[in-house]
Amino acid sequence: MASPLKSLVNDDNRYQRAFQLFLERSSEHQCMRDFIHNKLPDILASIGDGKSHLNVIGVGSGAGEIDLEMFSELRQKHPGVTVENEVVEPSSQQLHNYKVLVSQKKTDLDYIKFTWNKMTASEFEEHWRVKKMTKKADFIHMIQMLYYVKDPGATINFFQSLLNKNGKLLIILVSGESGWGKLWRTYKNQLCNTEISQCVTTGDIKSLLDSKGVGYQSYELPSQMDISECFTEGDEKGELLLDFLTEVLDFSKTAPPELKAGVLELLRHEDCSVESEGKVIFNNNLGVIVID
Ligand SMILES: C[S@@+](CC[C@H](N)C(=O)[O-])C[C@H]1O[C@@H](n2cnc3c(N)ncnc32)[C@H](O)[C@@H]1O
Repeated sequence: MASPLKSLVNDDNRYQRAFQLFLERSSEHQCMRDFIHNKLPDILASIGDGKSHLNVIGVGSGAGEIDLEMFSELRQKHPGVTVENEVVEPSSQQLHNYKVLVSQKKTDLDYIKFTWNKMTASEFEEHWRVKKMTKKADFIHMIQMLYYVKDPGATINFFQSLLNKNGKLLIILVSGESGWGKLWRTYKNQLCNTEISQCVTTGDIKSLLDSKGVGYQSYELPSQMDISECFTEGDEKGELLLDFLTEVLDFSKTAPPELKAGVLELLRHEDCSVESEGKVIFNNNLGVIVID
């Protein structure tokens, strides 16, 4: 049954504030950077077939910090290439932040032509079909965004169909073994509005790919999140983090009391978190899936 609670993604302004606070309280972007500098170079080395021009698509790129980090590795593996980068991002606020970041680093990025698509992944799919686009991509990434599509399997299929020979599709989501996985296995029906948000982990995506016989490589990225503020009643930041954790808009104010109590109890349970030096540290481990 779909949750009657309102999804946080309905309010982009609050969503983006919650996401920013989550980034400040977690090692999310640091563990991605470690992956990008240690593992991604070998993955990128195999794309492109020696071509001098590469097509990249970033889906749900946010403010682009992680995208640009990946471009620096891409450039090192393929010196002298030019790149066309399609950015697919529905939030005008995030798209604006991404453009500002690009303009600040303009001279380092002059080999990239950016095409800004202010749209969702499914709108982009429609746009691609209507325009009868035949262009193929060498590298496509969907980082922490498959929660926000109606059918993650169909979205993966579509983007995989855009890959060139030797192209790679990179997916990052929370790991099935993370605190998120435990939270969602327990409260998915109460929290997720399946019309707009899915409680999906890399475990779910791997099962889906296995059932279709699609091959992939996978990696686990250890990560943590300090959720201590969530346990101080009325704490504004704690409430914002709780919205992000549950994907529910104003969770503290709108969730039935027994759901709220159950979620708070589970969040600090040893299945999800460890308590250390008076802090509650949530398991934010991520998983990476790379599809050819
Ligand atoms: C958790 S943020 C991740 C941003 C960035 N990839 C990162 O890791 O820093 C999710 C992003 O997906 C975007 N998004 C939400 N719904 C989307 C959809 N249906 N299609 C594409 N992107 C979406 C949001 O606006 C947001 O920028």
